[in-house]
Amino acid sequence: MDVTRDRAWETLTRYTKSESLLRHAIAVEASTRHYARLFGEDEEFWGCAALLHDFDYELHPTLDQHPQDGAPLLREEGYPEELIDTVLSHAEHLQIPRDTLLKKTLFACDELSGFVHACGLVRPSGLEGLEPKSVRKKLKQPSFAAGVHRDEVYAGAELLGLELDEHIANIVQALRPIAGELGLPTSA
Ligand SMILES: [Fe+2]
Ligand SMILES: [Fe+2]
Repeated sequence: MDVTRDRAWETLTRYTKSESLLRHAIAVEASTRHYARLFGEDEEFWGCAALLHDFDYELHPTLDQHPQDGAPLLREEGYPEELIDTVLSHAEHLQIPRDTLLKKTLFACDELSGFVHACGLVRPSGLEGLEPKSVRKKLKQPSFAAGVHRDEVYAGAELLGLELDEHIANIVQALRPIAGELGLPTSA
């Protein structure tokens, strides 16, 4: 099959109805696409893997099922093993080696996209003017966006070989164009 954004979106929205999960999917997609462009990689393929990484979360909300029980569903639909393996690799508990740049990038974008999104939600100007420094400060407040695993944020930057500030700046830049879709204030 051809892995296209339309196809991935169709799969995602067949299994996922919650607005917050859909927003998470498009935020991680935008971040992963941003890195695909920076690295000169296949943006469409990277974006689809990111879009689908939590596609089965509504169906399988616990770690004894997510994302491993989603894999056969993707296989049935004809998605290539490379995409399925990438989706599986985002989950810490499966301990799949992150041996491709796409796997490293997806992992690095997953938690931080959610965190930057949360930072934007509490600012009147959304993501405009959001500096890495203030994101870092919020990372140190355990009660803020408490569901975001800080250790995975730090590990992700390290996996990409980036300073945390640079990684944060990249994610802010990646999410800015889709601020409206994320329910964030836009400059317009
Ligand atoms: Fe997940
Ligand atoms: Fe996720």
